[in-house]
Amino acid sequence: MSQRDIHYSLIIKHMDLFEKCDHFETLKYVRKLGIYPYFHELESRQAPVVQMENHRVIMLGSNNYLGFTENEAVIKAGHAALDKYGTGVSGSRFLNGTLDLHLQLEKEIAEFTGYEECMTVSTGFQTNLAIISAICGKDDYILNDRENHASIYDACRLSYAKVLRYREGAPLSSQRYA
Ligand SMILES: Cc1ncc(COP(=O)(O)O)c(C=O)c1O
Repeated sequence: MSQRDIHYSLIIKHMDLFEKCDHFETLKYVRKLGIYPYFHELESRQAPVVQMENHRVIMLGSNNYLGFTENEAVIKAGHAALDKYGTGVSGSRFLNGTLDLHLQLEKEIAEFTGYEECMTVSTGFQTNLAIISAICGKDDYILNDRENHASIYDACRLSYAKVLRYREGAPLSSQRYA
């Protein structure tokens, strides 16, 4: 970012909410520079090579480690589930959204991993929010590696626990916690 843009983002800080919505220029600027990393459109399946905005590119950013997005058995099971259950559960797992399929999956994962029980959550972000905010409260301390994922930072805030940050990989050194 140029000096001008750093200055601009400082000004943004002092705008009221309506002004921020009406003058959302930083995004346009970053897009113009061609360095905006988010919301690129894929026109193909998630795979090691994908079609992105008319280019064939190597996908290094996905979590598709096991290649399930292209696995024929998984695709077939997905079709069967759509036929049986429709397009969604229309609610959270807590209320009306738990299917027998969820419980079957969780039972199988628990057996496979050797645990008594397990719970599946849709994303890593949600997992951290759910677990950390459920088990930590205002009387707890969390030692948090500075480089931890944003979801862990958010989860710590949500938990109201006291958070002590440490330099990457050095929780037990004599450094001062911030
Ligand atoms: C440690 C960690 N936590 C959370 C996430 C977020 O996962 P998701 O993109 O599924 O929300 C990631 C993503 O790679 C991660 O590495």
